[in-house]
Amino acid sequence: MNVRSIFITRKISPKAIDKLAGLQIRIWPGDDPPKKENLIHEAARSDGLLCLLTDPIDEEIINAGKGRLKVISQMAVGYDNVDINAATKAGIPVGHTPGVLTETCADFTFGLILAISRRIVESDHQVRKNIWEPWGPDVLIGQEVNGSTLGLVGFGRIGQAVAKRASGFDMKILFYDPTPDENKAAELDAEYTELDDLLKRSDFVSLHTALNAETFHLMDTTRIGVMKKSAYLINTSRGGVVDPEALLWALENKVIRGAAIDVFEPEPIPEDHPLLKLDNIVITPHIASASNTTREKMALMAVENLIAGLENRKMPYCANPQVYADTQQ
Ligand code: DGY
Repeated sequence: MNVRSIFITRKISPKAIDKLAGLQIRIWPGDDPPKKENLIHEAARSDGLLCLLTDPIDEEIINAGKGRLKVISQMAVGYDNVDINAATKAGIPVGHTPGVLTETCADFTFGLILAISRRIVESDHQVRKNIWEPWGPDVLIGQEVNGSTLGLVGFGRIGQAVAKRASGFDMKILFYDPTPDENKAAELDAEYTELDDLLKRSDFVSLHTALNAETFHLMDTTRIGVMKKSAYLINTSRGGVVDPEALLWALENKVIRGAAIDVFEPEPIPEDHPLLKLDNIVITPHIASASNTTREKMALMAVENLIAGLENRKMPYCANPQVYADTQQ
């Protein structure tokens, strides 16, 4: 029997690689993502592909793998970079890694809430420039987090984990979700509101929704314009959920007080982007899930999905379970 061949688009945890003993493994050596032509080449000669959210796996790449490629396993919970319809049409299951990064991303979201409202990053920059103003009643005054109102757009795993932290800060929790989980809402003392109502009432609006046709540029000038002038926008979901032009307009014109974002459209943010000159924004480079423990769990889960796909078993965490609809398992 031929040894199965897999392509991994970046170096991942050695513990996860160990699980792949006996397979022929090729690992992209660079820190930058492979180019499209590399992905096409690898898809055509691989039985399995393990990819990251920075690898756009489009129809052309998927079609290049048709006939041989049995599984695509994404090491991320979000999979908007993978053309799911094309994969399903080609009969290829796509794995992802829900659950294991929930708490880490919620921690980080809370870090951003505190960083922007209490001006932590801005203060650090001042101290490094030898600016240490004497303690004064108005020096680096920020906004209170405890007791304020948090609006969660998306009340899935990560939104709920952020709510759990917010209750420790005595925050009033509002949420909007097209399919509200009423039991969780009651458990977390979170109030369901329509999106506009949430935007009008929240001191912090935190985005926890997948990127899809419905959520693309969900936060545009109109929606950001509805937010309180004193409010902050937090985004740890996907860059495309916020219209970057609208965000720039809102921060330059003080339509809202500030923003803290871990994701942007595009990534990386262009080095001359005007947002980088503003003090009322904190920007981090898509690292909400970046802890040792979580990244290892994500890699192990991605490998588990990959192996299931190679062995023709239903993968434990599948983004397109409809692919199995006509298959006897
Ligand atoms: C994901 O898994 O989708 C996250 O964005 C990774 O940080």
